[in-house]
Amino acid sequence: IDPGMDLFAEIERLKKEKNAIILAHYYQDADIQDIADYIGDSLGLSQEAAKTGADVIVFAGVHFMAETAKILSPQKKVLLPDLKAGCSLADTCPPDQFKVFKEQHPGHTVIMYVNSTAEIKAMSDIVCTSTNAVAIVESLPKDEKIIFGPDKNLGRYVAKKTGRDLVLWDGACMVHEIFSREKIVKLKNRYPQAKLIAHPECEEPILKEADYIGSTTGLLKYTISSPDNEFIVATESGILHQMQKASPHKTFIPAPPDNNCACNDCPHMKRNTLEKLYLCMEYEQPKILLPEALMDQARKPIERMLEISA
Ligand code: 13P
Ligand code: SF4
Repeated sequence: IDPGMDLFAEIERLKKEKNAIILAHYYQDADIQDIADYIGDSLGLSQEAAKTGADVIVFAGVHFMAETAKILSPQKKVLLPDLKAGCSLADTCPPDQFKVFKEQHPGHTVIMYVNSTAEIKAMSDIVCTSTNAVAIVESLPKDEKIIFGPDKNLGRYVAKKTGRDLVLWDGACMVHEIFSREKIVKLKNRYPQAKLIAHPECEEPILKEADYIGSTTGLLKYTISSPDNEFIVATESGILHQMQKASPHKTFIPAPPDNNCACNDCPHMKRNTLEKLYLCMEYEQPKILLPEALMDQARKPIERMLEISA
């Protein structure tokens, strides 16, 4: 790429030329969020992917999100700026091991968090996101036996909220397990007015300290509607961009991690850059390709989720 190139202008040109839409998750770099046509959480992004009239979906997020978009719009070209943008949580649930787990729990309905591979979705009955996990569980009869995965922290939170006994898969996200309760408590003492807001992928001791728990969209909305002015944010740091944009006079402090790294970046989300976004649009590569039969199988539990969340 010519270092003098105006990437924003080139990406805008390619959007028009190719009738492309850029969908970006809140955890993307600020400049990617700024050029996106739609920024959202996992649920919003899948709803958008299902209804878009664009010919090309450029997914600024991670692999499972782009895969979900492809499954919902199989006739469209779905591009991901970096195919290696995976997910540590999805990686904790390999299909062969999950198959055995399912066999060990016959008669259970399988609810899987969208942060999972297409193969895992194909083995599930309903998909959920952090926005609708409680509602999806509650949509089933009280005595229904349920497997919930792959995130045990979200699973434990949903079990507590719904009063249901869920069989949990033992998976977690590397970014949301990094926060230090001790450092957060110290920070809360230093900023007594600050509210701790946390994503349900965080571990239980962090969630116990939280004033509000929600998905990325939930957290953003909370900071907008809350009368409070200071927030300690326990999730990936990319969301701070929209929080700060929506409430420029408020203060947002990333929750401190256990180690000495100053940021809470997801290394997978951050593989995408503006340069890679431009290149993938120019060359229409890399694109998501999945076997038809797998897509057909994985589509059913995603559509069931979208129906419940409509
Ligand atoms: P939501 O955007 O649905 O809250 O999910 C967060 C996440 O971990 C995405 O990878
Ligand atoms: Fe996966 Fe965690 Fe990164 Fe989200 S933040 S993409 S769950 S590794």
